[in-house]
Amino acid sequence: MLLSGRGSNLQSILSASQSGALGGDIALVISNRPDSGGLDIARDAGIEIALIDHQAYATREAFDASLAGALENQSLDLIVLAGFMRILTPAFVSRFSGRLINIHPSLLPLYPGLNTHQRALDAGDTHAGATVHYVTRELDGGPSVLQAKVVVQPDDDADSLAARVLQVEHQIYPQAIAWHLSERLQFTAGTLYLDGVALPPTGQRWESV
Ligand code: GAR
Repeated sequence: MLLSGRGSNLQSILSASQSGALGGDIALVISNRPDSGGLDIARDAGIEIALIDHQAYATREAFDASLAGALENQSLDLIVLAGFMRILTPAFVSRFSGRLINIHPSLLPLYPGLNTHQRALDAGDTHAGATVHYVTRELDGGPSVLQAKVVVQPDDDADSLAARVLQVEHQIYPQAIAWHLSERLQFTAGTLYLDGVALPPTGQRWESV
């Protein structure tokens, strides 16, 4: 797992792993930031951790090569980006193609990139949400697995909306990872299938109100 911050998604995935719902274990947690709360969560759970500080590398390529080296040393079924706030190089993405998954705090294809909640509020959207998707070279553009919506409340600001979206993130990310680990997802000819049934471009829908 790769992360940069507080690690609440790590915590939800860890809980699913411990309850048996995930169908797998977290082998390694890598952060690019020394102050990540996620590193503390992983350490306390007895998970191997690594700090690969991007500031120590002159180029994005050099950082990604170091990251790839740490990951290649393990036999990993899936590389989970959980609040990992670095854009990965095409070389890195190609190397782990089909084994890289991300959660993004918007209803993709709306609002790739940063400040998703403020952008949804500024647009007057009635709903916001989160999307789990496989990672491709296109930023936040890979095939969607699972998407959850929440209702935007009249008094929402970016923080309150982010907090409500985070609650559904904690439900959909472990679910999507479990689907991958049990080989229920197949990507063929540009379409993602769950149990042999084609998913819509936005992924399986997970409604929440
Ligand atoms: C989550 O909201 C996640 O969707 C977002 O960062 C947060 C991490 O929280 N990811 C991105 O914005 C990726 N572009 P966490 O550290 O508590 O899991």
